[in-house]
Amino acid sequence: MNRLAGKVALVTGAGRGIGAAIARAFVAEGAAVVLAELEGATAQATAREIAAQHDAAKVLAVPTDVTQAASVRAAVDEAARAFGPVDVLVNNAGINVFADPLTMTDDDWRRCFAVDLDGVWNGCRAVLPGMVERGAGSIVNIASTHAFQIIPGCFPYPVAKHGVLGLTRALGIEYAPRNVRVNAIAPGYIETQLTRDWWDSQPDPKAARLETLALSPMKRIGRPEEVAMTAVFLASDEAPFINASCITIDGGRTALYHD
Ligand SMILES: NC(=O)c1ccc[n+]([C@@H]2O[C@H](COP(=O)([O-])OP(=O)(O)OC[C@H]3O[C@@H](n4cnc5c(N)ncnc54)[C@H](O)[C@@H]3O)[C@@H](O)[C@H]2O)c1
Repeated sequence: MNRLAGKVALVTGAGRGIGAAIARAFVAEGAAVVLAELEGATAQATAREIAAQHDAAKVLAVPTDVTQAASVRAAVDEAARAFGPVDVLVNNAGINVFADPLTMTDDDWRRCFAVDLDGVWNGCRAVLPGMVERGAGSIVNIASTHAFQIIPGCFPYPVAKHGVLGLTRALGIEYAPRNVRVNAIAPGYIETQLTRDWWDSQPDPKAARLETLALSPMKRIGRPEEVAMTAVFLASDEAPFINASCITIDGGRTALYHD
C-alpha cells in the first residue's frame, strides 16, 4: 500500500465522485494530496473523512476554481508549501453541458469549455514548469468515452473532451524528453452525482438508468474506485513508459456495436 510513497499530488474536483475516490486512493498509497475543489465545504468534509481513515498529515483541502489560472497556481503553491513540489496532477474537475447545438446559449458553450478544457490546461500550465525543471512528473487527465465517441444530444461536452485527449497527446509528446508523462483516463458510465443528475434529467429516470444498464456488457455501472485504481497506476512508478496514452474504463461499452 505504498505505491505513491513520498509523492505529492493535486487532484482537482476532489470534493466528491471520481476525484474524491482518487484522492482517497492516493493517500491510501502513501501520497500527500491536495484536494483542489470549487466547493470549499465539500472538499473540507472529504478531506476530514480521508484524514480519519488514513493519515491526517497528508490531506489538505484548498478551495480552487479550475477556470481561473491564478486560482490553480495558488493551489499548486499551497501544495508546495504544505508538502513540497507537485509530482502528480490529476485534472479531474468537469461538468456535463448537454444541449442542442443550435439552441444552446453562448454561455453554455463558454461554461463547458471553461471547466472541461481550459480547466485542464490551467492545471497543466501550473505544474509543468516545476516538473520540467525537476525532470519528473505525471499528469493524469480525466477525459471520457465522449473523447472519442458521440452520443446525440450531448453537445458540446464531447467537443471539450476530444480537446482533453488532444491536449494529453500534445503535452505528452512535448515533455516526454523531460520525463514528464501526460496520460488520460476515459471512463464510461460511473456511479456519481453527475451521472445520477443526468438520469434524473430524463423524462423517465428509472427507464434511462435501465437503458444504460442494458447497453453495459457487464450489466452494471462502474464505481469511482475503479477509476481511482487506474489513476494510482498511471501516477505511480509502475507506468514509466506509458505516455500520451488513454486508458478506457467502461466495461467494454465502447467496443459494443448496436443499432
Ligand atoms: N461519472 C461519469 O460517468 C463520468 C464519465 C466520464 C467522465 N467523467 C468525468 O470525470 C470527472 C469527474 O466526474 P464525476 O462524475 O466525479 O463528477 P461530480 O460532479 O460528481 O464531481 C465533480 C467535482 O468537480 C467539482 N468542480 C466542478 N467545477 C469545478 C471548478 N470550476 N473548479 C474546481 N472543481 C470543480 C465539483 O464541485 C465536484 O465536486 C469529470 O471530468 C467528468 O467529465 C465522469
